[in-house]
Amino acid sequence: MFETLPSPQMDGIIALMQAFAADPRAGKIDLGVGVYRDAQGRTPVMRAVKAAEARILEQQDSKGYLSLAGDATFLSAMETLLLGGAVPGTRVAAVGTPGGTSAVRQICDLIAKVRPGATVWVSAQTWPNHEPLIDAAGLKARPYRYLDRDAGALDRGGMFADLAHAQAGEVVLLHGCCHNPTGVDMSPQDWAEVAALLQRTGATPFVDMAYQGFGEGLDADAGGLRHLAARLPEVLIAASCSKNFGLYRDRVGIAMAVVPQAQRDAMAATLAGLNRQSFAFPPDHGGRVVSTILGDPLLRVQWVEELEEMRNRVQTNRRALANALRAATGSDRMGSVAAQQGMFSILPLTQAQVMRLRDDHAIYVLWDGRVNMAGLDPSRAGDVARAVAQVMRG
Ligand code: LMR
Repeated sequence: MFETLPSPQMDGIIALMQAFAADPRAGKIDLGVGVYRDAQGRTPVMRAVKAAEARILEQQDSKGYLSLAGDATFLSAMETLLLGGAVPGTRVAAVGTPGGTSAVRQICDLIAKVRPGATVWVSAQTWPNHEPLIDAAGLKARPYRYLDRDAGALDRGGMFADLAHAQAGEVVLLHGCCHNPTGVDMSPQDWAEVAALLQRTGATPFVDMAYQGFGEGLDADAGGLRHLAARLPEVLIAASCSKNFGLYRDRVGIAMAVVPQAQRDAMAATLAGLNRQSFAFPPDHGGRVVSTILGDPLLRVQWVEELEEMRNRVQTNRRALANALRAATGSDRMGSVAAQQGMFSILPLTQAQVMRLRDDHAIYVLWDGRVNMAGLDPSRAGDVARAVAQVMRG
């Protein structure tokens, strides 16, 4: 039956993880996959997570099935974290999902239910898995300009000119904060203009929120999403707890739709039905850790402090790399990495230069020059910058 099955092309991020793991060179540097690393190079279990897990272990008396939507306490805690009361709960439908990736997929399947083959506008560039997920649901990805590569900033003119062509029945995918891969975020004014544009065109926003808390703070990072939710009839949301709770392998995500109140029940039932069709019940453990932390004032304070530590460290890494790049290249061409947000920035490297970084210097970055700032050891910033300068000189 499977004699003719072709080997699929492997996801570039996963392929890079494997290549790094297989590289025997001492001192190799992994700036590929988007995971946080501390000063010891570890991706630690957060202290608030450990405490919540201890409490769950002690108190949990059943692992029987819950509803298809998952644990109601988790859903409502996440609704508050994301939307901060911007819309009444009677307009919100949500389901737990195995990670943010499945949340994106469930939302794509939801769109396909009412608009098969619909266009989803995606920033050029975007998270490498967005397009495969959109394709898998039978939708069509269409790019809008986003990054001004020379300035390392938002191509505002290009973005608004392209999105002016989005229409009712089409979807505009936006990164809630900490844009992956560029690190370039929209300002509150840009979000207000996006909201006005969507009101004019009738296109539906779909906000992917994978890094809340890694940009400017939990509330500031959700400001754009909340602005849209308060002004538009429909907003689709996929959110992940992988990074801000460090729950990567526990797979904790949520798919959410803000709709007019009259459609809320049908939406909730549809999302639950989509869960049933792909994995039935979402995993419970990680979501319960999240709701335990968000529901306990002391654990919440501890988590916010730890998240701030991570955010500050990433910003320190950004400054360290920007300074080292300035020193190594004698130019401020890559100075914008200091001002960008979240885990990622794009360095202006060709694919050949990316390969030379890997082959000659054992430094792993994504094929498009994406660098994971959260994976950098600041004491190696000089090594990275000198290698980058060397491959750029040719
Ligand atoms: C990344 O972009 O590196 C992370 O979001 C991990 C992933 O699943 O791709």
